[in-house]
Amino acid sequence: MPEDRKPVSPQNPCPFLRALVAEGLLSDQYEPLKHLSDTIRTVARTGDGTAELHATPIILIALVANGLSPLQLVRTRVHGVHLSALRGGPLDKKGAGSGILDQSSRFDQSQLDRMATFGSEKVDANGNTEIGLNLAEITKFMNANFARAKGRRRLIDRRLMDGEFPILLRVMGKQGRDARYLSIAELKTLFAERRLPERMLRPLG
Ligand code: HEM
Repeated sequence: MPEDRKPVSPQNPCPFLRALVAEGLLSDQYEPLKHLSDTIRTVARTGDGTAELHATPIILIALVANGLSPLQLVRTRVHGVHLSALRGGPLDKKGAGSGILDQSSRFDQSQLDRMATFGSEKVDANGNTEIGLNLAEITKFMNANFARAKGRRRLIDRRLMDGEFPILLRVMGKQGRDARYLSIAELKTLFAERRLPERMLRPLG
């Protein structure tokens, strides 16, 4: 691992947070909710779409991420969210998602290949073509993931999905000729190497 990269716990299944931990922008341990939200919002602005994310939903999601009991909610509020303890928490879909990271947070190329089958050829701002997914394609992909998980899914899982890839599209999506899309090549870098695209973060130095 290059010296500037930080290790990330397999108990953190969120590909976006994993990249921020690896970059050293977030702690793998307890993250105060305000710092977590400020960091996510700052990074989101470095994307092509200069996405302006609201702080409240980020803070609410993080508040419940380690457990919903009153005692746990107070603990999270006071000490911050424990990013190395997200697995098994209320947001863990336990395999009802894309499966690109398995239950031990190992990258599964076959599941990224499956995601690519929901996409189509896109032309980026430089005129290069690549496979990517726009919002309509992402929605079909999420519906298929939910359908695939029949018998082991919760109703809330489909709602949770709306806060994952569609938000990633706003943050990390590329502006194509017709619409924004998530590049499969960039998703591989994110999920497998825990890196955001080169073009992001640069403005943060
Ligand atoms: C802008 C902010 C965020 C983005 C773009 C984002 C994006 C994503 C994406 C794309 C996934 C993968 C879903 C899949 O593979 O099906 C995911 C999973 C997950 N995220 Fe995030 N996330 C964000 C913030 C957060 C926050 C603040 C938390 C909690 C503190 C969180 C917790 C999780 C968890 C627990 C999972 C695993 C869900 C599962 O079991 O599939 N994420 N996120």
